Amino acid sequence: PSRSGARVVARASAGDGMQVFSPSKVNLFLRIVRRREDGYHDLASLFHVIDLGDDMELEVLPPGAGEDLLQCSDPTIPCDGRNLVIKALNLFRAKTGEAARFRVRLDKRVPHGAGLGGGSGNAATTLWAANELAGRPASDAQLLEWSGEIGSDISVFFSSGAAYCTGRGEIVEDVPPPLPLDTPLLLVKPPIGLSTPQIFKALDLGRRSAAEPRALLGGLAAAGRLSDALCVNDLEQPAFDTLPELLALKRRLAAAGDAAGRRFDAVFMTGSGSTIVCAGSDAAPAFLSEDPDCAGVFVSPARLLTRRAGEWYAAPAGG
Ligand code: C5P
Repeated sequence: PSRSGARVVARASAGDGMQVFSPSKVNLFLRIVRRREDGYHDLASLFHVIDLGDDMELEVLPPGAGEDLLQCSDPTIPCDGRNLVIKALNLFRAKTGEAARFRVRLDKRVPHGAGLGGGSGNAATTLWAANELAGRPASDAQLLEWSGEIGSDISVFFSSGAAYCTGRGEIVEDVPPPLPLDTPLLLVKPPIGLSTPQIFKALDLGRRSAAEPRALLGGLAAAGRLSDALCVNDLEQPAFDTLPELLALKRRLAAAGDAAGRRFDAVFMTGSGSTIVCAGSDAAPAFLSEDPDCAGVFVSPARLLTRRAGEWYAAPAGG
């Protein structure tokens, strides 16, 4: 169902098993509204799904299989009930009454502790693919609703790609893409990742931005491009307190600009970090590959994605 030359990023293959692309996300802005009684925080954030992602392969195991089988390319990732993929399969069975067990192969490209929602994307993709393989017992709306029970930033992967999210992050409002889908992004993540609960704990509510979330949303839609004034993230303060090198990296990226020395439109952290997003160019500045201090830094170009009929699309190639 390709439209206006749009490139299909993810297409499920029919048959016994299916290959699926599992995207990640960035937060174009992230405001923390309040600390809740249940330990979570109400937030207001513009999420956008991006084309940095993992490859997944799912197949239904023969009847009688006692357990799901998860294999992951990254040996440091647990493959048992702690993994969001297994949690998604358990939730799928509990909600639908289906009995099927699955074999899942997970080829990781998205770093963890990165603020990119890689594991959350895996959970959403698993939920979606298990439903497809089972003959669609659940609607897309049900999958979206259930996904909030696995984690806070999973529901966005059932949105149109650009979503204004509130509550813990699980209340999803589709918004028109606020910027051109071919806006180049450069993702830069130091070797040290950050733990989301730890960053929320280190957040000083007295040091938040005063910007009104709806005003940020309107500002982005009106500008059609990112800027430092609009891409505020209240979790930068605790992340920079926790990892001072991250603030230094952000400042260095802002000062250096891209490979040609052109300033980025905006340089900001996504989620609870530790990825810094540079917008407006994906040509990495030379210091990232030349400075020995930057050894082990993850660097990747990225583009925004949009979702139609369960599949992810990038902007048509060549604009
Ligand atoms: O929901 P999820 O499991 O992704 O959240 C991980 C942790 O991050 C929570 O246990 C909580 O400490 C923190 N968190 C929060 N407020 C949110 C989302 C996450 O405090 N809206």
